Amino acid sequence: MSTFETRLADTQAQMETVLDKVLPLPEGPQAQIMHAVRYASLGGGKRLRPFLLLEAASMFGAEGEGALLAAAALECVHVYSLIHDDLPCMDDDDVRRGKPTVHKAYDEAMGVLAGDALLTLAFEIMAHEDVHQDAGIRVKLISGLAKASGSYGMIGGQVIDIYAPILLQNQNQDEEFITRLQALKTGALIRYAAMAGGLLSEASAEDLQNLDDFASALGLVFQITDDILDREGDAAEMGKATRKDDGLGKATFVSIYGLDGAKKHASDIGQQAKQALASYGSKADTLCACVDFVLNRKK
Ligand code: IPE
Ligand code: IPE
Ligand code: MG
Ligand code: MG
Ligand code: MG
Repeated sequence: MSTFETRLADTQAQMETVLDKVLPLPEGPQAQIMHAVRYASLGGGKRLRPFLLLEAASMFGAEGEGALLAAAALECVHVYSLIHDDLPCMDDDDVRRGKPTVHKAYDEAMGVLAGDALLTLAFEIMAHEDVHQDAGIRVKLISGLAKASGSYGMIGGQVIDIYAPILLQNQNQDEEFITRLQALKTGALIRYAAMAGGLLSEASAEDLQNLDDFASALGLVFQITDDILDREGDAAEMGKATRKDDGLGKATFVSIYGLDGAKKHASDIGQQAKQALASYGSKADTLCACVDFVLNRKK
């Protein structure tokens, strides 16, 4: 395995352990919600956002329990976004991470509630003093996570994604429009992952800016490859349904440029991501390898 693959596998194992520790155990008459939250969060996923947070933190000197807890909090927001994204009122998907979606394994109410429980748990975890001894940094982490998740971040992107085909028929769904949609829907949490790593390690303003430039580009590459995989990926390998975006009228780079055009665009933006970290030399090797991983991923 390459260094990158080893580190990603390590992150996946670490996240399993830390999530198992922070997710509540089934208890009381509401035990079903703890079961559903654990069902959605454990035993799957690439854990890419935790990986980015941990790598950015370690690049500037922060390692250990605090970064792992922050990464777990971020993954909770991501898993919540997946559970809600799959609901019948959104993308209406039956399979996620290779198993039935939460609303299929439980029911729709439990899907809504499991998402809500994970979103609120994320902030409980991020506020814990073990994340960072400096409360000022914890407040920055918390407010950054709120902004990245909300109306000016992931939720804003989901709104554009869902309503664009209905409300914006006359608006040009051009490159600028789709870039903005993707920057919010997927980019915001990926940017936050890198920024949170930088905040935990008290990186300089210049380093934070470089991380932001890197992750903004990487987030875009990530969603373009998600859209490419929707068109040509293998559903069994991806653990989720494919060939759905066209039928749902989703605006993607594949829908405006076709597969080859989207691949070229992803590759160009991937180079921009690496360029943002060029001044760090080999210190940024793992994050640069992550760009190739995202470009070449099959799931
Ligand atoms: C899927 O995210 C949703 C998007 C933002 C495209 P991932 O592809 O990171 O999903 P997991 O966490 O690996 O399951
Ligand atoms: C989902 O985008 C993004 C979020 C969950 C915020 P998609 O709808 O394209 O993700 P998949 O393809 O279902 O994983
Ligand atoms: Mg969606
Ligand atoms: Mg979806
Ligand atoms: Mg998709």
